[in-house]
Amino acid sequence: MLRFLDAGESHGRCLIGIIEGLPAGLSIDEEKINFNLKRRQGGYGRGERMKIEQDQVEILSGLREGKTIGSPLILMIKNKDWENWSEKEYPPLTIPRPGHADFAGAIKYGFKDLRKVLERASARQTAMRVAIGSVAGILLEEFNINTYSDVLRIGPVKAHRITSFNPEVKAEINESPVFCLDGIASLGMCREIDRAREKGDTLGGIFEVIISGVPIGLGSYVQWDRRLDARLASALMSIPSVKAVEIGEGIEASKKKGSAVHDEIFVQEELKNNSSRYFRKSNRAGGLEGGVTNGEEVIIRAYLKPIPTLINPLCSIDFATKRETKATYQRSDICVVPAACVVGEEVAAWEIATAFLEKFGGDSLVEIKENYKNYRDRLQEL
Ligand SMILES: Cc1cc2nc3c(=O)[nH]c(=O)nc-3n(C[C@H](O)[C@H](O)[C@H](O)COP(=O)(O)O)c2cc1C
Repeated sequence: MLRFLDAGESHGRCLIGIIEGLPAGLSIDEEKINFNLKRRQGGYGRGERMKIEQDQVEILSGLREGKTIGSPLILMIKNKDWENWSEKEYPPLTIPRPGHADFAGAIKYGFKDLRKVLERASARQTAMRVAIGSVAGILLEEFNINTYSDVLRIGPVKAHRITSFNPEVKAEINESPVFCLDGIASLGMCREIDRAREKGDTLGGIFEVIISGVPIGLGSYVQWDRRLDARLASALMSIPSVKAVEIGEGIEASKKKGSAVHDEIFVQEELKNNSSRYFRKSNRAGGLEGGVTNGEEVIIRAYLKPIPTLINPLCSIDFATKRETKATYQRSDICVVPAACVVGEEVAAWEIATAFLEKFGGDSLVEIKENYKNYRDRLQEL
């Protein structure tokens, strides 16, 4: 079973992730992880903190000669900002910011200083989620399963959707300041972020994750918590500020008739590369039917609220005086949709890898490759 735990506060010494259940013999290239960490820190609309942190992963256990040995992999990302914070004394923060965990967290845990909430509730945790998901992505690449993500909307500015993804397209997406392939929309999104910054406001939006090369049969309908659509939705929803998740054309489909929504099934006469004999001309289901992958690309969209820390703060209360006041402003981003898009890609990679190992798992990469080959050979007979 593939699983992880992570720990660390936003301005603590470091973030830690422990991954258990990786097969032996998987080459882990730290630079692949660092590349994704850098992408998460990028994106137009991020704040000053990202100039301080240049996230780099260090792998503390689980590797010999660059390959996994089946034991837990410990990942560490140092917080550079810790040095600036650790020596200072700060007065307690007593005014919760609406939209953050501050209010409910302080009451739940009985804290007088809201820093004890926001240090762990902070989206700084998503740096480790990216590192952990990148390891899953490295495993998936061994089986030609590739993950992509792009931004579809920031505030009111909508992009034209791309329908075909490949490594060249991925490189182009990374060149956009907002990780959006539609150049005109990219410009509009940057302009909208500038406008929001000038007004002391923030923006949300939509990003999309696509996973190609996923075999038929990951996940299951036999128990609610094995449905892969549910697991993906839960994982994406765990990203701070994601407030809705859609699989395939879920939202549009809810407005249409069944005949216009479901993906018809056809037979192909000649089989190519161990592929399935059966195919679809559309993929409105986003690659998942009954909680099981059906061999089409997995398509997930996540909807983000505008982030809650505002330069022009909203009304709040002060726990110390028990009076109404304005929320405090902490150094903050304006728009995190591009960064969240990277987090979403890696979080989805983790869920797919978990389901993949449930189906084809073994103690070594060699064993898993054999299991996978046997399954694909059998598909030809169906
Ligand atoms: C990568 C990333 C960076 C974020 N940075 C900020 C930020 O600088 N300021 C802020 O108010 N919210 C930021 N957020 C969103 C908050 O962390 C989030 O809204 C808050 O923790 C409350 O959680 P919820 O929105 O899921 O309810 C960020 C989210 C992500 C994914």
